[in-house]
This record gives sequence, C-alpha cells and structure tokens, in this order.
Amino acid sequence: MHLLVIGAGYVGLVTGTCFAEMGHHVTCVDINAQKIEMLNQGEIPIYEPGLEEIIRRNMKANRLFFTTDYHPAVEEATVCFIAVETPMGKDGSANLQYLRQAATTIAQYLNGYKIIVNKSTVPVGTTQFVTKIIEEQLKLRNIEVDFDVVSNPEFLKEGNAINDFMKPDRVVIGSNSEKAISILKQIYAPFMLNHDRLIVMDPASAEMTKYAANAMLALRISFMNELSGLCEILGADINKIRIGIGSDSRIGNSFLYAGPGFGGSCFPKDVRALCAQAAPHQYDMPLTQAISTVNTHQKLVLANKIYRYFSEKQGMTHTTIAILGLSYKPDTDDIRESAAIVLIEQLLEVGANLRLFDPAAMENAKKAMGKYPSLHWCENEFDAAENADAVVLLTEWKQFRFLDFEKLLLQMRGHAFFDGRNQFNPNEMSKLGFDYISIGRASVFAEELSENSLTMSEYVIK
Ligand SMILES: NC(=O)c1ccc[n+]([C@@H]2O[C@H](COP(=O)([O-])OP(=O)(O)OC[C@H]3O[C@@H](n4cnc5c(N)ncnc54)[C@H](O)[C@@H]3O)[C@@H](O)[C@H]2O)c1
Repeated sequence: MHLLVIGAGYVGLVTGTCFAEMGHHVTCVDINAQKIEMLNQGEIPIYEPGLEEIIRRNMKANRLFFTTDYHPAVEEATVCFIAVETPMGKDGSANLQYLRQAATTIAQYLNGYKIIVNKSTVPVGTTQFVTKIIEEQLKLRNIEVDFDVVSNPEFLKEGNAINDFMKPDRVVIGSNSEKAISILKQIYAPFMLNHDRLIVMDPASAEMTKYAANAMLALRISFMNELSGLCEILGADINKIRIGIGSDSRIGNSFLYAGPGFGGSCFPKDVRALCAQAAPHQYDMPLTQAISTVNTHQKLVLANKIYRYFSEKQGMTHTTIAILGLSYKPDTDDIRESAAIVLIEQLLEVGANLRLFDPAAMENAKKAMGKYPSLHWCENEFDAAENADAVVLLTEWKQFRFLDFEKLLLQMRGHAFFDGRNQFNPNEMSKLGFDYISIGRASVFAEELSENSLTMSEYVIK
C-alpha cells in the first residue's frame, strides 16, 4: 500500500520506517527542508536506538522516501498519517496550527478516497476539526472527494520507539467508518500477529484515551515525588516504598520512580492540555491540575538540596557543579521540558560554574542553551567532574550505572554526589567517600575509605 506520513519527527519517522519495514511504500513529508536533506543523505536527525539501520535498509529497498513536497505523495497514498507536533499553547491548550496546516495541504491535493489518520496527540473534537478543514478546502477547489478522518493516537516511548511500534500493547482506532476501520486493520495486522490488540472506538474516546494514558502515568510519578518529600521528613525510604507497593498486582511496578520531575515533549503538555479541555466547560480537574503543580515544584527540589548543602560550606558563587545527563530520560536526545534545563537555569542564577555532559543530547542542549555562554560542554563524565565540587546525576543513562567512582572522585575538588534518580546505595556511596544526597531518602555523608573498599556490584542497587 502507498502510505504518506506527515511530519518526520520522533513519531512520524518511526511510524514511516516501521510501515516501510512491513513492506509498504512510504513517503515521509516534512516542512523542515534541512531535516529532509539530512535524511536523504542517510543522516538521522534524532537519536533513537535501532532506527538508523531500519531507515537505511528501507531507503535502499526503495520503500522509504523523504520529501518536502506533498505532491504527488498525497495523490499516490491510500492513507495519510499526520504526526506533526501539537505543542503547548500559552493557556496550556494544544496548539493545532501545524495540524491545521497539514490538513489544509492534504486537502489541496486530495484526488480520490483517502483516509486521513491523526497520530498527533490532539484534543477531543479534532477529528471533526480536521474533517471541516478538508471540507472547506474541497469546497474552495469546487470538487467532491470522499474521505475519512480517523483518530489513531500513538503510544510509543522515545528510546524504545521501534519496539513499541513493532509490538504495540494496543493500537487504538477512533472511527465510525467501516471502510476506514477495515483498511487500518489491514495495515496494522502484521504488527499483531500473536493476538489482536486493535481497539476500535469512537473518535472522541480515542482522542481522550491518549490524554488519559499520559495523565495517569504522570500522576503516578507526581504522587511518588510528593511522597518522597514526606519520606525525607519522616525518615522513610521512597525506594523501599516503591518496592513495597509495586509488588501489589493492583498497583504494579511501572512509573513509581521518584526523581527530579518528569519532562519530555508529552507528559507536561498533555496534562496541561487535558485541563485546558475542561476549562471552557467550567469543569474543575483539581487532581489533574495537581500533577503539574507537584511536577513544577519537584523540578526545584534538587536545586534546593544543592543550595542547602553549599550554604553550609563555601556558598554557591564559583562552586563548580558537574551535571550528568541532559535529556529528559535515557536513550533519547530529546531535551524538551527536561529537568536539566530548569536545574541549569537555577544554578546559573546563583553564580555556579556548570560542566555538562550527556551521551546523546549535547547538540540539542547546546542549541537550547546557547544563550548561556558560561556553560562548559564536556567530553565525558570524567571530564565533567574535573575540579567539580559536586556531581549531579540527572538522567539514568546506562553508562552512568557503573560509574568508576574512584576515578570520578580523583577528578573532583569536592565529594558531593546528588543523585536525581536514586541509582545508588547511600551507605555504600558514603563508604566510597561521597556526601550522597538523593530523592526521598536520608542523605549520608562521606566516611573515611575503609581498607575493604567495595566492588562495583555492591553499590549499584537496581
Ligand atoms: N515524541 C513522543 O514520544 C510522542 C509519543 C506519542 C505521541 N506523540 C505526539 O505525536 C506528535 C508528534 O510528536 P513528535 O515528538 O514526533 O514531534 P516532533 O516535533 O519531533 O516532529 C514533528 C515534525 O512535524 C513537522 N511538521 C510540522 N508541521 C508540518 C507540516 N505542516 N507538514 C509537514 N511536516 C510538518 C516538523 O517539522 C517536525 O519535523 C505530537 O502530538 C506528540 O504529542 C509524541
């Protein structure tokens, strides 16, 4: 089948590539000419494990194409998937300008029955909104063309996107058109050979399902983050509580990690956009609003721990802090709404010197924080730790799990380790010579190094 994917970002690129891998002829259109040029030269504009190899293979097999031109791709396609960004507007609502532009352009080339599938995360009612845009354009063109607009929200996770797309937990199709549902069932059939995980519902429910999923996951994180503050006050350990409650099958283990506050291009904006959908109807969503409130507060927690620690020492001015991890989570170069950005701005404000390193997100971080010339961009974690008074772990990249702490300490001027991801055992970190401050657990301070120094496997706790 000829498929068109509009938007070659984290979702569109993975969607198009995985459809091509299943044998479809796929064209990806993006208005960003630089991105398309890179792709056509075999360069991948995002960091996503496994993606590069599949893109290369399918380009070589003449199944995957990249262009800035909607024409003739719209005419050739049976289905047009829209995967453009829907960023947060000023009032928290989803900004649909990119979607409007995509739908308008599709309509300008519509030449026969097509399905327009919306993969972007969009408010309830957007299926009708897109239908209306297309109808208006067809009216302007003075032609009648049959088409269906379908909601098909995407649930992939950056860092595991290929696997999530190839083996989805579920595929949600929101449509009342038997014809569209039948074609989409055919397209998704190869992704669910083991058992059918395709869920068909009305468009409004499909659109809401995506927001509900993200808000539920974000709620769990905010709840654990809120609880972590109380644990610190009362002397409980949030990691033990996570294990204690996660073993209850009604609760489960996922998304119970306390940390520096959630980021990324989805959770923060989708929680706000869900509330924004309720506001015009005077419907209060205090619980959903609290998810964002708690998260905003949580993004300041590490900075406050750092100020407190150094206020009893030399103060913050000219204190050097190494930050390990800038992406909002491991295995992605995405820094949108990352806790690192908030922390960096907080620490710069009080005069700290910052040395930064991330295994994949350095380029994106440099672009986003180019306005701060004093930042030191480092080669690796040890370079970042050079003459640092403290190291802060913000993103739990695998390569930081087995840090060579002895080497790290030798590089450092001080011996504070702020662990935003609760990766290590506090007592063992103190035995290694660190003042160790984490989230929702008691802080511990450096002990004299004993002769029986610990082996790596003894101090990694997960
Ligand atoms: N990133 C994720 O993990 C994820 C997961 C699930 C759902 N989503 C949702 O999917 C949507 C896309 O997210 P993303 O992270 O892939 O965004 P992105 O910013 O990485 O990519 C969007 C792409 O669309 C292009 N674009 C914008 N307007 C266009 C137009 N009119 N025509 C053609 N191309 C256009 C942009 O140039 C960009 O390359 C959002 O609604 C997001 O909430 C994202």
